[in-house]
This record gives sequence, structure tokens and C-alpha cells, in this order.
Amino acid sequence: MANTATIEIDGKRFEFPLVKGSENEVAIDISKLRSSTNGIITIDPGFKNTGSCESAITFLDGEKGILRYRGYSIETLAEKVDFLEVAYLLIFGELPTKSQNDKFHADIIAESHVDEDIKKILDAFPKTAHPMGIMSSLTSALTAFNATSVNVDSEEDMYKSVVKLLGKLPVLLAWTLRKKQGLPLDYGDNSLGYVENLLKMMFSKPNSEYVQDQVLVDALDKLLILHADHEQNCSTSTVRIVGSSHAGLFASISAGISALWGPLHGGANQAVLEMLEDIQADGGDTKKYMAKAKDKNDPFRLMGFGHRVYKNFDPRAKIIKKAADQVLHDLGVNDPILEIAKALEKEALEDPYFVDRKLYPNVDFYSGIIYRAMGIPTDMFTVMFAVGRLPGWIAQWREMRLRKEPIGRPRQVYTGETERNYVPVEER
Ligand code: SDX
Repeated sequence: MANTATIEIDGKRFEFPLVKGSENEVAIDISKLRSSTNGIITIDPGFKNTGSCESAITFLDGEKGILRYRGYSIETLAEKVDFLEVAYLLIFGELPTKSQNDKFHADIIAESHVDEDIKKILDAFPKTAHPMGIMSSLTSALTAFNATSVNVDSEEDMYKSVVKLLGKLPVLLAWTLRKKQGLPLDYGDNSLGYVENLLKMMFSKPNSEYVQDQVLVDALDKLLILHADHEQNCSTSTVRIVGSSHAGLFASISAGISALWGPLHGGANQAVLEMLEDIQADGGDTKKYMAKAKDKNDPFRLMGFGHRVYKNFDPRAKIIKKAADQVLHDLGVNDPILEIAKALEKEALEDPYFVDRKLYPNVDFYSGIIYRAMGIPTDMFTVMFAVGRLPGWIAQWREMRLRKEPIGRPRQVYTGETERNYVPVEER
């Protein structure tokens, strides 16, 4: 393959270098396009064909259904490693030694306290407030209580911000859940593992000992690993572009939480469960919802299906589907919703509309079934996704800042009014 691409405009030829990645992906470097063509730019709504950066964190091949974090397959990591080790791998590039992992966890624990005044902000929210809105607000509010974590340029200061966020976000998740349930807000037990303590903070009941359920620990650990990063998706691109203005890590992650909230993105796991419940209430009429999903006049989409990049099975969906069966069995839960999901999946995988458009189940299709079996309320599902994605957002933000990448500022093609004269109001 040549090292350059040639574009011809009005008989004039322009050459641009090709960038080739370690997995043989090829991109045209158009960073000199506008200056060398006297103002011509590209346009690509939704950035379906546009790379925003080079990155060494996550590789995915949508056609082959491959997902790797720092070169390790998602299947291997989900099976052999725990979430905190995956967080370390994504952020620092290598799986930690035992002592590195122990120090990482100790540093996170040391920074896991949340200023009591945050509870006053939490109290101000109505019980009906959506947890994602609360989490985005509280994450941004952390900036006010951690002033030294705003302008971080050195790796040492970044590390302090990283462990603060990994320590505090699970507390904010648990407090958000318990506030809505009218339960006291606590910190769990720092002698526990990262995921074990998150579960205890979420589910412990006053005046009774919390007993860990290894099925829940293993299920949540796997779910968090599967959600940990996914290269330049909507919320990660948001974190990178907000961070590119040198807004602090907390503010950047708060913006990422807001982007993830959307039902086309992370909010889909909640939307899937609500869709499955609607189908159940409708007598399990999956065919009616399949028809709605294919009707161009109907805004309804089959939530949990389709993906911007995967044009094959989302490898995470395969793992989660298998885990759903196992978790429901181990918990002794017989959830008819799972059967409706499997029926819907079977129909969609045989329907030409979905097959022709390569619409397969994605990470959000089965995850909500496990969260529900674990006793997590539906409106908390996307918050679980956010805590899972936190190490990936941090890793991507850190990579962008350490590489000193420029502020993100896309161009546009203006299609509005050309210059016109002012008309006084009495003449309009
Ligand atoms: C996540 O990017 C990431 O990596 C995200 C994520 C991550 O880990 O960060 O993987 C997490 O966000 C997973 C996606 C969760 N969202 C949903 O499940 C919502 C339902 N899915 C769709 O909204 C949609 O598939 C998207 C948003 C996921 C992708 O949309 P695209 O890439 O913009 O595709 P498109 O809208 O251009 O659709 C192409 C065609 C269209 O039909 P035609 O115009 O060609 O006739 O497929 C149709 C769409 O109407 N289509 C669907 C559909 N998804 C696409 N039709 C019915 N149901 C669907 N779910």
C-alpha cells in the first residue's frame, strides 16, 4: 500500500500522508487539508468515518467482533482478571503486579471519603430525580471539594486525581441509590475488595450484618470489566474533548456521565428493560415490537440492538448473555423477561431487516436482566455502566493530556443566510 492518498479538486491534486495502526488500520491524515487547499474541509455527521485521535488503549474490530484492552482479549480479562486490575491495565498500560495492585487499591481507599457537605447537595434533589443527573452533578461538585485536582499537569497530580475519582464515584453511586430508598448513607468496609465494598455500600441494611454473596460479586465484577472501555464512543469522545480544554478530570468525567445517559448510548440498558417490560405487559407480543422497530414512521427502535461499530455480535453481549443464564440460575431467579429477550433476539437474528442492516444485540441488551436479578433498580442501570466505564474514561483522558493533544474544535460548513442588511422593526 502507498504511503499517501491523493485528492483531486478542480484538476489540482493534493497528497496527504497515510497513518497506519498496529492492527493495520489505515487513516488519511488531513491535518494539512484546509491550509493546502485554501479552505476545503471534510464533513462527516456522527464521525462515522473520522478518527479523532491515535490511541493505544482499546482495539475493537466491528466486523470480526473483537475487543481487546491493551492487547488482552475481553474474553480472557472477563475470565481471569478482576475489575481493579483491569482499571490499572487500562490506565497505566500493563497488568499490575500484586504489590502494584495492592498499592493502587490502598491509594484508592485512602481517597474514598466524600465531604459530608456533598450530602447537602444530594438532599436537594427530589426522590424522583434520575440517578444519572444526580451522579453527573455530584461528580462535577467534587471539584469544589478537591481544588488541587482541577489543574493537573504532572503525572503525579493526575494519579492523585485518578485515585480520588475511583475512590469517590462508587460512594456517590451507593449514596444516590440509598437516598432514593430512604436508607442511611455509609462507606461500607475498607477491608473489603473494590467490588465487594461497592455491593456492601449499596445493599447493607441498618442494624443487620451484610453478608456477601459471591454470585453477586462475580457477576458485578464481570459486568464492570465488560463496560470498562470501548475506544472513542460518544461519552469517551465527550470526556476527551472536554478534557482537551484543560477542564479538570472531575468536570470531564461529569460531562461523560451526561453523554452516557442518552438512550441511544448507555441509557439503552434501562430502555431495554423498560421495552421488555412493555412487551411482557403486552402479552409477550414480540412481533408487534419488531414491526414497530422496522416502521420508519415509528420512532421506536429495538433497544439493545445495533451498534455504530459492531456489524457482528458484540463480544460483550455474548459473555453477558451466558452470565445472565448463570446468575439467574445461581440466584434461583426465574425471570420471564429473560425468555422474552431470548425470543426477541431469535426473531431479530432471523429477520431480513435486522440481518441486512447487521443489527445484533449489543452490550446493553442483556446487562439489565442481570442488574435486575441483583436487585438493582432499573433507573440505576446506567449508573452501573458509568462506574464500569470510569477506568476507560480516565485512561483516555490521561492519554490525551499526557500526549498534550490540542483543544478539540471541529469546523463546519455554513448553510445559513448570506450577508443581509438590517431592517428597522417598523419596516419588518
Ligand atoms: C452503546 O459506540 C459505542 O461503543 C457505544 C457502546 C459503548 O460501550 O460505549 O457500545 C455502548 O451505546 C451501545 C448501543 C446502545 N444503544 C442502543 O441499543 C439503542 C438502539 N440502537 C440504535 O439506536 C443504533 O443502533 C445505534 C445508535 C446504536 C447506532 O446507530 P447508527 O450507527 O447511527 O446507525 P443508524 O442509526 O444509521 O442505523 C442504520 C440503520 C437505519 O435504518 P435505515 O435508515 O438504513 O433504513 O439501522 C436502523 C436504522 O433505522 N437501526 C435500527 C436500530 N439501530 C439501527 N432499527 C431498529 N432498531 C434499532 N435498534
